[in-house]
Amino acid sequence: MAIAVCPGSFDPVTMGHVDIVTRASRLFDKVYVAVMKNPAKTPAFSAEERKALLSKALKGIENIEIITFDGLLVDLAAEKDATVIVKGLRAVSDYEYEFQMALANHKLNSNVETVFLTTSSENMFLSSSTVKQIACFGGEIRGLVPDCVCEDIKERLYLGGRVENGKK
Ligand code: PNS
Repeated sequence: MAIAVCPGSFDPVTMGHVDIVTRASRLFDKVYVAVMKNPAKTPAFSAEERKALLSKALKGIENIEIITFDGLLVDLAAEKDATVIVKGLRAVSDYEYEFQMALANHKLNSNVETVFLTTSSENMFLSSSTVKQIACFGGEIRGLVPDCVCEDIKERLYLGGRVENGKK
């Protein structure tokens, strides 16, 4: 049985993530979608919130399991008997960072291979950071994130409606 881990910050889930996880689920018997900590980023959503949004967005894909994990990716892979790490590659700008991580992970555990899926062209320049910026200023994120999580993300991030110091 081929088991894969699809890790990420997922802060929040985008159409790009849905595309990669859906395609990974067709390639492997079981895919763990792992909400992880990227030490270089401060997330806007808690790990549990990110997991809940992913559960809504990926509903209906039978062979996936959404989990949170605080630690090294290779340790998670070993714990779950996964031999593959699946990541999406967007523009060339992703390449160096992803290459570095793949090499580091392979050095830590040579039984685990990283497989890159190329992002579909419409998601080439889509990122969670873009979604967050648009949402916090009240812009339209429909089409960038799954419809079923659109309102959750808008409500949570929109700065215009937030009560601060008792004033709107
Ligand atoms: O969506 P992101 O932020 O690009 O995902 C990066 C993530 C979370 C997969 C990466 O930071 C990660 O694997 N974090 C766990 C710690 C780890 O194992 N790092 C790799 C060794 S350098």
